Amino acid sequence: MSKGSFYITTPIYYPSDNLHIGHAYTTVAADTIARYKRMTGHDTWFLTGSDEHGQKIQRTAKAKGIQPKEYVDQIVAGFKHLWKTLEVSYDDFIRTTEDRHKKVVRDIFVRLHEQGDIYKSEYEGWYCTPCETFWTERQVEGNMCPDCGRPVELVKEESYFFKMSKYADRLLKHIEDHPGFIQPVSRRNEMVNFIKQGLDDLCVTRTTFNWGIPVPFDPKHVIYVWFDALTNYYSALAGGRSDNSLVSKYWPCDVHLVGKDIVRFHTIIWPIILMAAGIELPQSVVGHGWLLLEGGKMSKSKGNVVDPLILVDKYGVDAIRYYLLRELPFGADGYYSEDALIQRINSDLANDLGNLVSRSIAMVEKYFAGEVRHPAENDALDHDLIKTAGEVIEEYTQLMEKFELSNALAAVWRLVSRANKYIDETAPWILARDEGKAARLGTVLYNLLETIRVITIMVSPFMPLLPARIWEQTGLADCKEVKSWDSLQKWGGYPAGTIVKRGLTLFPRIEIENRHSGEKIVQDNTEEESGHISIEEFARLDLRLAEIVKAEKVEKADKLLKLEVAMGDEHRTLVAGIAKHYSPEGLVGKKIIIVANLKPTKLRGILSEGMILAASTGENLGILTVDPEKDVPSGSKVK
Ligand code: ME8
Ligand code: MG
Repeated sequence: MSKGSFYITTPIYYPSDNLHIGHAYTTVAADTIARYKRMTGHDTWFLTGSDEHGQKIQRTAKAKGIQPKEYVDQIVAGFKHLWKTLEVSYDDFIRTTEDRHKKVVRDIFVRLHEQGDIYKSEYEGWYCTPCETFWTERQVEGNMCPDCGRPVELVKEESYFFKMSKYADRLLKHIEDHPGFIQPVSRRNEMVNFIKQGLDDLCVTRTTFNWGIPVPFDPKHVIYVWFDALTNYYSALAGGRSDNSLVSKYWPCDVHLVGKDIVRFHTIIWPIILMAAGIELPQSVVGHGWLLLEGGKMSKSKGNVVDPLILVDKYGVDAIRYYLLRELPFGADGYYSEDALIQRINSDLANDLGNLVSRSIAMVEKYFAGEVRHPAENDALDHDLIKTAGEVIEEYTQLMEKFELSNALAAVWRLVSRANKYIDETAPWILARDEGKAARLGTVLYNLLETIRVITIMVSPFMPLLPARIWEQTGLADCKEVKSWDSLQKWGGYPAGTIVKRGLTLFPRIEIENRHSGEKIVQDNTEEESGHISIEEFARLDLRLAEIVKAEKVEKADKLLKLEVAMGDEHRTLVAGIAKHYSPEGLVGKKIIIVANLKPTKLRGILSEGMILAASTGENLGILTVDPEKDVPSGSKVK
């Protein structure tokens, strides 16, 4: 069942240095979209690569005393290693130094020259080497690049020019006729305004360096790096192949995903190259926002880059991908901080999702020896959960189609929260006390396992390693159909009778050092699966020494006694289920321990404000009477 083809690209990054999490963000976002499209039945092609020519690369290599090719080979090996580590599922990796690419660039250049769209003239202008960009006199202020703020150089040279001006009106019309061509809308408006100011012809060759693709008919010129680089999206399909099958299958490209810094190149220069060459224009250029650091933009020159490899090592691939894709709202900027990353891991992954899975599975093991029972009749709570699941699938689909990845995750987490609330509402541990409620308990646990299945399918494009770990625990490792996107069309795909098996904690919580006090902050950690509680959780219990001052039977309740206890001056009433073991008379004067901050509850119309501690085998019960070593008064805290 193919739903047609889908072609998505990332920018091809400069191998001027190793990549940082800003680059990782773009690539991981593109990978998630590609995985989503594959999952939903599209014949998908996902391209990434490296932009290896230009003066900056040549200079960097020279500074290291090696040939440019040797230098880029090393750095590009690092790109590939990073993408592998981040589980990036690209179908092709294009390097602009490959013959298949260079040939296509030369062919297009020659064609445009032959038809008069590229012509020779003389160029004088301001050039920013790090940005590989020319600027006009009025664009540079104080000899600084308007984009990066670094110094520009005045260059004068014989050059070839590309008649961009000729195509400006056609481009404007194209943008107007295709509202989805530039996304989001804010980027589109910026570009429209830019084009309306008029386009200058673009200088598309250089003679000041030679690390690039030479112009075939005039080899002292090399082709301008952006003309070279942009063509990768087409050359990767068209170049070096004996047939045209990739082009006919995947061109025009569906999405060029880029950062907002290079939207201009992709929505003005690139479409005009294609128009001039008579090649169809891409469907859309999607420009995302910046991942910022507290101190501003991440940049190699500022030395404040964050290395994704280190983060993956510390926190795992799924967590890093989740964080990046959750944190940046579509199209807008977002801030990176390690504290925020840890916060996300602890709350969204460990607490919300991790606990949902571990609690559900632990309960199936505890109550039904690991077997997920057939659901019986659904009641109103179940219907509400099922309805939420349906709505979330719908919402997720719409948002994914618009590439709103962060919002799509937020939608899935609405279902995660709903399911956690469902556990609290249905209170399976109470159902488990009554054998007559076994069918109800089975239904509740079935619905939880089914919800986990639905959630796992939806998060799979974002967190590629997680699904296998969840399927292992939910017993679905070998069931193919019930993990498919199509299976989400109907509630109830989880096969009843499956045996679940508890596994490792999906996302262990991460403790963070409190920067200000130097103390460890231990987060609210209810890890039911380990049975451990933290000292802070224990400290929430208000245990007090108390003395029984009065005791009497509760009318018409053969298990209950009403006690009045003194904690210093304070007297409280407690209702305790100890009537079968104690007669009221014997209790007065006994020193006991009570849980003083237990939520007050009414039993037989009497408000009970605490609980007495007792040791019990079920059959036998003895209240804990205490005789403190030293003379501590009643009301003293027990800890
Ligand atoms: O521009 N936040 O390569 P480049 C988000 N070779 N995304 C970021 C980012 C950040 N802080 N920093 C970088 C080039 N990026 C050209 C592209 S394409 C034909 C040629 C991402 O290595 C973002 O996608 O400078 C941005 O557009 C890209 O890296 C720039 O990578
Ligand atoms: Mg850049």
